[in-house]
This record gives sequence, C-alpha cells and structure tokens, in this order.
Amino acid sequence: MNAQNRPKLELSGISKSYARGKLSHPVLDRISLTVRAGEFVTLIGPSGSGKSTLFRLIGGVERPDEGEIRIDGELSTGRRGRISYMPQQASLFPWLSVSANISSALTTAGVPAKEAAALADRWLDRIGLGGVAKQYPHVLSGGMQQRVSFLRALLMPRGLMCLDEPFAALDALTRADMQAWLLKLWEEERRSVLFVTHSIEEALTLSDRIYVLSPAPARVLAELEIPFPRPRRTDVWTEPAFVELKRQVLELLGETGGGQGR
Ligand SMILES: Nc1ncnc2c1ncn2[C@@H]1O[C@H](COP(=O)(O)OP(=O)(O)O)[C@@H](O)[C@H]1O
Ligand SMILES: [Mg+2]
Repeated sequence: MNAQNRPKLELSGISKSYARGKLSHPVLDRISLTVRAGEFVTLIGPSGSGKSTLFRLIGGVERPDEGEIRIDGELSTGRRGRISYMPQQASLFPWLSVSANISSALTTAGVPAKEAAALADRWLDRIGLGGVAKQYPHVLSGGMQQRVSFLRALLMPRGLMCLDEPFAALDALTRADMQAWLLKLWEEERRSVLFVTHSIEEALTLSDRIYVLSPAPARVLAELEIPFPRPRRTDVWTEPAFVELKRQVLELLGETGGGQGR
C-alpha cells in the first residue's frame, strides 16, 4: 500500500495497563481501529473504559504496553505533535489571554505569528467569543473554556483531529450549535476526525463510522457504518434507520432502559 491509500490513523493490537498498588489494572485490551482520510469516526463506550487513555496514546503522551500506532502509514507510537488534540479537560494556559491561548498554539505548530493572531481573533468572533478574546481563561465559564479549547484544536494545521468529549460541558442549545458548526466545517474541509462522546445521538448525527467499546479493559464490541447522506442535518434523528441504529448501540452498551452511558 502506498502512503496515499493508507488510513490516516491505524491502531493495531493496542493494550495498556496501569499499576494499582501491587496489581496491574488492564484498561485497553488489543484495540484495533482505523480512521481513513477525511473520515469522521466516533468512539462510544462506558465511562472508565479507556477512551481518554487511548487518546493520550495516539497523541504520544503515553506509550502502549503492546501494539502499534501509525499515522499516515508512519510508525508514531510514543511520538508527539502529529495530531491536533482536544483533551477532555480544557487545558488553557492561565497566564495567556484567550486569544493568545489559540495563537500561541498555532505558532508552535508553524503558523506565522501575524496569521495566527488574525485567525484566532476572526474565529473567536465567529463563535461568539470575540468579547472575551483579551480576557484570561479563569473569567470564562467551563463551557466557554471548552469552546476555546475546541477552537484551538480545530485551527491546528494537522490532518488528524482527536476530540475527547468536546461538548460535554455545554448546555443543550450551545451544544446543538457547536455540533452544527462542526458538521458544517467538517463537510467543507473533510479532515480526519476521531471523536469521543457519551451521546448516541451526537455520534449518529456526526459520524461516518462508530466503534462501540466494552467496559474496561476496553475491547471493540462493534463497528457500525452510519449510512445517512451528507450534508447531514440534525433532522436525521427522526428517520427509522436512526432509531434502529440507536437501539443497536444501546443494546451493545447494555442499556436497554434508554439512558445514556455515563
Ligand atoms: N495515569 C493513570 N494512572 C492510573 N490509572 C489511570 C490513569 N489514567 C487512567 N487510569 C484509569 O484507566 C481507566 C480508564 O480511564 P479513561 O481512559 O479516563 O476512561 P474514559 O475516558 O473512557 O472514561 C480508569 O479506570 C482510570 O482510573
Ligand atoms: Mg474520558
């Protein structure tokens, strides 16, 4: 296979355990998955199943005990700086303004300083945060910090974007806005995305494919193709095929009661 037809991201046989006292606590059990170029792939699984751990491995912040990570076909296990990554907890620098939090990340990634500053300010305006661009992160609500962190990941010039529950701290209306906004942007740019969410509706609305994970140690329980045509809008929720897929995911997660995994 040449580099062009290789998946953007390939995980093969990833296992990871953490020490708990004298015992070893397995978190990931031989996870294999792919994200193709331009594909939107979502991981859904119970809380504590190892999703954030998997993201740290992909980001090269930690190393797996076993298995390989390839980005654009290149062995990337334990290598940093190859993806744009939004961690589950917004990690903004408290000593930098909101705008500088974004622009400094972009300059570190190679964007010229002037362009980075202009991009940051233009996009903060576009998502309704222009008014707080010069403020420091601590004056922002959790939801606003999450949006800034999301914007920072989105603007990073990287072909693979990993978003770990990017909308979890947002109220329902803002969340719907951000979903629509991400969907529109993604449909324009077709970046490769690996996304984590607890919301089955969110997963089904945004994704091309979904991997359903078991409780820890996480295994891949199922891989589902989401067939709805693009551009996609949130009105797919009412389609019978949507309701059926939702039922399948709930069943896989062992929650036939209808609640969403936490
Ligand atoms: N650095 C760490 N040291 C020890 N245990 C950890 C560490 N990071 C995560 N864990 C454990 O690994 C499991 C999976 O955590 P996590 O990846 O955050 O799950 P998820 O994101 O799916 O909710 C949890 O039991 C958590 O306590
Ligand atoms: Mg997590």
